[in-house]
Amino acid sequence: MSELLPVKTTDRPFTLIAELTYRCPLSCPYCSNPLNYNDSSYRRELATEDWVRTIQQARSLGVWQLGFSGGEPLVRQDLEVLVKAAAQVELYTTLVTAGTLFTSKRASQLCRAGLNHVQISIQDSRATESDYIAGTRCFEQKLDAARVVKDLGLPLTLNFVLHRQNIDRLEEMLELCQRLQADRVELAHTQYYGWALQNRAALLPTPGQLERAVQIVAAAKQRRICPMGILHVIPDYYEDYPKPCMGGWGRRALVIAPNGDAMPCQAASSIPGMEFANVRDRDLDWIWFESSAFNRFRGTDWMSEPCRSCDRAQIDFGGCRCQAFLFTNNAAATDPVCQLSPHHDLVVTAREEALEQSLPLVVHRSSVTGATFTKNIE
Ligand code: SF4
Ligand code: FES
Repeated sequence: MSELLPVKTTDRPFTLIAELTYRCPLSCPYCSNPLNYNDSSYRRELATEDWVRTIQQARSLGVWQLGFSGGEPLVRQDLEVLVKAAAQVELYTTLVTAGTLFTSKRASQLCRAGLNHVQISIQDSRATESDYIAGTRCFEQKLDAARVVKDLGLPLTLNFVLHRQNIDRLEEMLELCQRLQADRVELAHTQYYGWALQNRAALLPTPGQLERAVQIVAAAKQRRICPMGILHVIPDYYEDYPKPCMGGWGRRALVIAPNGDAMPCQAASSIPGMEFANVRDRDLDWIWFESSAFNRFRGTDWMSEPCRSCDRAQIDFGGCRCQAFLFTNNAAATDPVCQLSPHHDLVVTAREEALEQSLPLVVHRSSVTGATFTKNIE
């Protein structure tokens, strides 16, 4: 292991999310990449040596776990080099993949490089429906990828993004997890930023669907169908209080965009006026402790009422800054998901409007002109 620099403070990041590229063979309508993911600045991806240096700096800063994400990180042919660099500084690495490029050959190479864990996203329990959401035929490739992970003896997480069009097949999804011997399952309802916000009316589940899903997950947890458990993230439009997004702004995690911009969360570039330091120009230590972006909403000093005097301020940190901006044009506002927010009616209205509409076709992330896919993918 290379020599580590002393960590300055206990208030240090735990997780680095390395968005290696926004390129991806899929085009999911809830993609977390920015709406302008195809801009030239994002196409100027970091070089291998930039990532290796950033990984080493992350470990020196105190990071323990590293998620290789995207887009599709397997598009990067240097992924094995990056995994090896992470293993050399004893970071726990997760490959977050759609699975379509996870061939046996690459899987073996990544395993030899020291990869610790693989998370594969599957869009539905059935091929046609899964391929419709993915925007391409890929369901069987995903199942093959899951089998390859198990054959290599690596821990396997299966991730299903839940929404109105697949949530009624939740039991089938859990059966699929058992068949594929998933060690862990993530059932994450869509979060409505970026692409998902464009598709909110097509994706927001009904209250009845959600209630049933909660019962199904509770029963599956009792049956202990996965050794490492099931994580179920409820859509926050149905919560009374917001989630501590990213564990608090600038508190636990860093996200590095493909072009090297260092951000406190994956959607931070959607907040106008934010300036992100770039790992090409600055080291991560400076970015974490000194940069304006990481300090902008760190702690509680930036809060106004009702958060400022709320006893949940250290629990949820006022919720999500990006969602606050989307609803109120003010990223420093209380997340309107909170029932104490003066803007909570905006969430209630958005929920009601989405559910009143007849179910539209989804707009896939690549269809920037607004074109839509049909369910008959040929
Ligand atoms: Fe959280 Fe602010 Fe709502 Fe209190 S008022 S619960 S701190 S979002
Ligand atoms: Fe940016 Fe929640 S996604 S703070």
